[in-house]
Amino acid sequence: MLDPRTIDIHLADPALAGDRRETWLPLLDPAERARYERYRVDGARREYLTGRALVRTTLSRYADVAPAAWRFETNRYGRPAIGADQADLAPGLVFNLSHTRGLVALAVGKDCDLGVDVEWISRENELARLCDRYFAPGEAAYVRAGEGAELTERFFAFWTLKEAYIKARGMGLALPLDGFAYDITGDAPTICFEPSCPDDPARWRFLRRAVGSSHRLALAVASRQDALRLRLRRVVPLEEAAAEEAAPVDDVVLPGESGRRAS
Ligand SMILES: CC(C)(COP(=O)(O)OP(=O)(O)OC[C@H]1O[C@@H](n2cnc3c(N)ncnc32)[C@H](O)[C@@H]1OP(=O)(O)O)[C@@H](O)C(=O)NCCC(=O)NCCS
Repeated sequence: MLDPRTIDIHLADPALAGDRRETWLPLLDPAERARYERYRVDGARREYLTGRALVRTTLSRYADVAPAAWRFETNRYGRPAIGADQADLAPGLVFNLSHTRGLVALAVGKDCDLGVDVEWISRENELARLCDRYFAPGEAAYVRAGEGAELTERFFAFWTLKEAYIKARGMGLALPLDGFAYDITGDAPTICFEPSCPDDPARWRFLRRAVGSSHRLALAVASRQDALRLRLRRVVPLEEAAAEEAAPVDDVVLPGESGRRAS
């Protein structure tokens, strides 16, 4: 079982889904398999299959349930969670999944709210123009004040952090994206809320990380624990134990209230 002071972030490469299709696909339930078959674009299919295999095999590391036996239910905004009928088998266990071109990330915690987002940052886009659509005015101004690679970094910092928060709330785009704003100029991101999105900034802690040169990750977590240990690991579904030993990506401590007061 997972310690509530630990959050694990498992990273998987969707390119592996090509070769492992025959071993991963039987883990899916009929509805998941039908959805998998509906994807027409190869990249999206692989990301989806990798995500399902990663969720199922990873949850089985923390509870005595076989990967194929997990049942999930979604809230009214589409957020998947362990089904109520299996809640006793994995008390308090929560997870959130994100996929993008070339990377799938799964965050798992206990007795907390968490959301994770990964993005592939090499795409050609008019990032400065997208700021007005998605970001709070202060965030957009900060992105535009960056140049070249710095503008890209700032853009994806806000993008992943905003996604991580709306996913941690479990509400997705039902929350107004300009109803909360980050400050990323300090050591750790901080958040503030507008009346359109009432929440308490003191509840939240955030992590930003580069995963290789092409991906950026953000995690949002609300936990009653003091310091939190975050373990980032590269894994291969059904081969996780070996890969975990071989591929630790990072170990990070997110200070709690006492650590923040001290600094
Ligand atoms: C659906 C949404 C929650 C995430 O979408 P996304 O960033 O495109 O996709 P991600 O890969 O990060 O996350 C998808 C996963 O989140 C989970 N998810 C779905 N709805 C969720 C919700 N309401 N809350 C939390 N997690 C959710 C699912 O596990 C889903 O994967 P699955 O369908 O394979 O199981 C929502 O935020 C969205 O539609 N975003 C669109 C992108 C956008 O415009 N972003 C603005 C950025 S500032």
